[in-house]
Amino acid sequence: MKLNAAREAARHVRDGMVVGLGSGTTVKIFIDVLAERVRQENLTIFFVSSSIDTSLYAAGKGLLEVPLHEYTPEVSFDGADTVLPDRSLIKGGGGCLLREKIVDYYSKEYVVIVDATKVAETPRNLNVPVEVHPQAFKKVMEELRKSYGAVNVTLRTYEKGKLGPVLTDNGNFILDALFDELKDPLRLELSLKSVPGLIETGIFSVKKPSKIIVGYLHGVQVI
Ligand code: 5RP
Repeated sequence: MKLNAAREAARHVRDGMVVGLGSGTTVKIFIDVLAERVRQENLTIFFVSSSIDTSLYAAGKGLLEVPLHEYTPEVSFDGADTVLPDRSLIKGGGGCLLREKIVDYYSKEYVVIVDATKVAETPRNLNVPVEVHPQAFKKVMEELRKSYGAVNVTLRTYEKGKLGPVLTDNGNFILDALFDELKDPLRLELSLKSVPGLIETGIFSVKKPSKIIVGYLHGVQVI
């Protein structure tokens, strides 16, 4: 399913293009497909990266990294954990949400590639990852429960707590906040950004993707 979505997305890339790259397994499959096109058609593709993982992976496949402060990607390609009915996304399963949101926002457009399991029919029972400054993680956990109605909030750890908190590429922690329902994702995204110590949320509502390519076992649907 991911491969079908990745193949469809890779058709949008042209020689000499600067693309943004998200992070995660679907994006890696997209990079594989793109790298194969680069090899077969002798293309040159530049990319702006959203994580150390993506930088290493894409560079290893022969794509050339350029910095966001010098280039504006024509289009970014990113995965998602959940696609909500209003086309908002929830991201951050891989902990790269801060730089993903930066790259997606500052690209001319962004395209999301997901397998069909990621499309939610209702905005219920959802995990929202948030990146927090380590100093404030417990305070933000309380805030998410008391002021925002999260039913459960956990600090993301390696090996179920044996190895301590997951550190993002930016040296921060990730909280996973479970919500019964996300009635207004845009409002929640904007409001969460006002909590001191909360650096970024995994809700992507402010700028929505221009295309969502949903991969099925036999084909794709573009929404
Ligand atoms: C990483 C992300 C990913 O896009 C999201 O977790 C989806 O990952 P995958 O393609 O592996 O299912 O937001 O922070």
